[in-house]
Amino acid sequence: MDRENADREPAELTLVEPSRANAPSGVTVVSVCITCKTADGAIVVGPDMFESVKAAIGESDRNVQVRPVQCLSVCKRPATVAVSSPDGYTFLFGDLQTESGTAALVSFVQSYQKSDYGLVPWRERAEVLRKGMVARVPPIRWSPDDGSAPK
Ligand code: FES
Repeated sequence: MDRENADREPAELTLVEPSRANAPSGVTVVSVCITCKTADGAIVVGPDMFESVKAAIGESDRNVQVRPVQCLSVCKRPATVAVSSPDGYTFLFGDLQTESGTAALVSFVQSYQKSDYGLVPWRERAEVLRKGMVARVPPIRWSPDDGSAPK
């Protein structure tokens, strides 16, 4: 900046969120296992998780579908939830508690909808989802020869 312009006010900055050309285009589906039980089998925790997640995100955003499923084959890590879309990554999480898991999923789904291929950056994942990560599966449309994740 030269001296002549040093006293001028900087132009108004408008923050514009960059559009993500490769963000998932379809409905984001949150699949909540409703048959998950505690390790001793005494308490079925899945229905509470489903009701909580559905109340938090399934009724306010028509681009999100929260659905009950019976078993995601991660039975030793209840409660379990998957996030997927027709053309985005599929994430599978376990070890979720109803309250903290629901809050984390609300944030995760928002990031998922804006991320390329739904690949939510690590820094945008809540701690419970980082620890509870079971799998991430690339979408069919992302299949580079070297198998790398999108950057
Ligand atoms: S019963 Fe929930 S993953 Fe199997």
